[in-house]
Amino acid sequence: NLPKHATLIEVGPRDGLQNEKNEIPTDVKIQFIKELKKAGFKEMELTSFVSPKWVPQLKDAGEIISYCSDEDRNLVLTPNEKGIARAKEANCKDVAFFVGVSSTFNQKNINATTEESMQKLLPLIRSLKEEDFFVRACISTSFYCPYEGKIEADAVVELCRQFADAGVDDLSVADTIGMANPLEVHELFSRLKKALPDVLITAHFHDTRGMALANIYAALQAGVDRFDTSAGGLGGCPFAPGATGNAATEDVLHMLHALNIETGIDMNQLLKAVEIIEPHLSGSVQSKQYQLSKRS
Ligand code: HMG
Ligand code: MG
Repeated sequence: NLPKHATLIEVGPRDGLQNEKNEIPTDVKIQFIKELKKAGFKEMELTSFVSPKWVPQLKDAGEIISYCSDEDRNLVLTPNEKGIARAKEANCKDVAFFVGVSSTFNQKNINATTEESMQKLLPLIRSLKEEDFFVRACISTSFYCPYEGKIEADAVVELCRQFADAGVDDLSVADTIGMANPLEVHELFSRLKKALPDVLITAHFHDTRGMALANIYAALQAGVDRFDTSAGGLGGCPFAPGATGNAATEDVLHMLHALNIETGIDMNQLLKAVEIIEPHLSGSVQSKQYQLSKRS
């Protein structure tokens, strides 16, 4: 009972580059995005309007987004009202908030407790929905927290419900530090699909322990057909110690196509995008498909 089609939301330009040690020139980021779009991605997280003091890697967010005036869903992350004001100034119509189920993580990431964040974000989301924005909520530490340990599924469902009630379009439910296993993934996503049938549910896995593909398979079996992935497997949150890259888009694509799940993404063109960014990275790209393409 696997889906026939799945949507990959490319998060490399945002999650992938926010944790990169090297300073990547803005024009290289733009070229990376353009090559990814050519591969067929219609939804991407392109950058973040966050404090440049906290995440200097994405300080060129305004410039990046000015090159993306097409019809695609060009998502930008924002933590607060100031981020929304910057996003509006740049004519963005697709925004993503991010909150940790773990309040300790939320404090380290955006300097507020989870409750403080929700008090500010929920009214903001309601007003953005009145203005016809597409609103996504990224739910960090949905399985484990680097500070608080195991997270209860009840807490995740409750937080997601609050966002859904405020009108968000998409919930990206994240295994921030790559500690979840397929049993936990199947259980949580089955519950979310049942509890919140009217909102898009996306799964966001970091591959810290090599479990991302197994977790994606478990999520597919729970009815999930949207996945955040990162070209080259880049990524990680600077405020989540131990977090490494996201599931590599090319490796996920290989698995989905092998399962006869259609994505609309072209593998060769995706690998070209990885080739653009790779020389600028502090480390090498470890994904299986990229390594294979270099050997042949
Ligand atoms: P703060 O220091 O408490 O902020 O940080 P503040 O409100 O006190 O303001 C301090 C200064 O920052 C002021 O400037 C503000 O104007 C400025 P100053 O007067 O000192 O010159 N400021 C901003 N500047 C630009 N854009 C803004 C903005 N807001 C305030 N939006 C803050 C609070 C939220 C700003 C900070 O903690 C922050 O930027 N955090 C971002 C952290 C981040 O980007 N983390 C990574 C993304 S989440 C993630 O990766 C997880 C995910 O992938 C899912 C998963 O895997 O779990 C999504
Ligand atoms: Mg992430």
